[in-house]
Order: sequence, then C-alpha cells, then structure tokens
Amino acid sequence: MTESQLNVLSVVGSLRRNSVTRVVLNYVTDLLEDRGCAVDLLDLADEELPLYNPDAAYSRPQFPGLRGRVEQADVYLLGTPDYHGSISSPMKNFLDHFWHEFAGKLFVPLVASHEKGLTAIDQLRTVARQCYAWALPYGLSFVEKVDVQSGVVAEQKLKDRLNLLARDVQVYGSLLSGQRKADLAGSDAGFLAQYRR
Ligand SMILES: Cc1cc2nc3c(=O)[nH]c(=O)nc-3n(C[C@H](O)[C@H](O)[C@H](O)COP(=O)(O)O)c2cc1C
Repeated sequence: MTESQLNVLSVVGSLRRNSVTRVVLNYVTDLLEDRGCAVDLLDLADEELPLYNPDAAYSRPQFPGLRGRVEQADVYLLGTPDYHGSISSPMKNFLDHFWHEFAGKLFVPLVASHEKGLTAIDQLRTVARQCYAWALPYGLSFVEKVDVQSGVVAEQKLKDRLNLLARDVQVYGSLLSGQRKADLAGSDAGFLAQYRR
C-alpha cells in the first residue's frame, strides 16, 4: 500500500460456504488490484462480528483492529445476498458498527438477487446517506446459477459490467478520496469540516 493508492474494503455479507456474492467480490478485487488499488477483504463468514450492541461495541477487544481497517478504506465494496428484498443481517450488522468512519467515502452496492436487488441496493444507498457517505449512482446485481456458475463468473455481460464498475470505483473513489483528504486538512466550510480532528 502506498500513500496515493486507493484503499478498498471489500465486505462479503453472505455466510454461505458457496456464496456467489463472494465469487463476484473476489472477481472485482482482482480487477481493482490490476488497476493499482489496495483491496482488503472482510469476509463476514470468516471474521464473525458480534451483534451490534451500543453498550458493548467499542469495548470489545477485537474491535480496534477492524475499526482501523474501516477507517483506512476510501471505498466500501458492499456485497450482500438479497434476503426478503433486503440486505443480509451480517451486512446490516457490519454497517451498524460504524458511522462517522464512512463519512465522505464511497459505497459500492453489489447484490446477489433473482429480482435485480433494487430494494437492497436502495437500502445501502440509504445507509450511505445517513452516514454522510457517497454512493455509486448505480449498483450491480447478479443471479446465482446464471451469472455465477461452478464458483466462477460465467456471463460475459456481467464481466463487462464488473469491468465498468471497477473503472468507476477507481476513478470516482480516487476523486472523492482526494477531496475528502483536502477537506479534512483544510479550513474551508463543507460537510466534512465537522470530522476534522
Ligand atoms: C432467507 C432468504 C431470503 C431470500 N429472499 C430473496 C428475495 O427476496 N429475493 C431474491 O431474489 N432472492 C432471495 N433469496 C435468494 C438469495 O438472494 C440468493 O440465493 C443469493 O444468490 C444468495 O447469495 P449468496 O450465494 O451470496 O449467499 C433469499 C434467500 C434466503 C436464504
């Protein structure tokens, strides 16, 4: 990782062993690394996060490590299965643990769904708004056993859209990250002024 590198936290919000969300996030990780980004994988199936409890969250011993990783990221790739038209509970739980860490950063919604995942994408955009984060103006959804088969991204159309997404993540993530750092370091008015230390 270098000072100018874009830091991406890739969050897998499915606990399923053969998760297609995980396959797609790994695919995007490779694309982003090819573009020079540093990608940190947070797979919630491997790194179990305690259920958010406002009284306990910040005192848990394992928490500072993850908090540092979340703070370091400029971009959050948020991959979730569509559960009842919603984001998964592990993803919601992850998001509940943090708020000001997200301010001025970019959310990127990726949803495994048979129904385009629009409501889950909207929920991620709502969380972004509540936490003063930006959201990519579009999200991507994909269908198990169609777009992802036997553990790999199978459809060329999805590959093309993921390529486009990786390009936008790198370009807009970098622009937003540069402006966020300048705003935090500066003295001008703006929504990030309240996050200066
Ligand atoms: C509890 C539950 C609820 C689900 N609800 C929906 C739904 O509302 N719409 C949908 O398209 N798929 C729904 N699904 C299907 C999953 O979104 C789909 O299997 C997805 O590909 C799983 O992603 P994963 O392999 O990354 O876990 C549901 C699955 C489960 C287990």
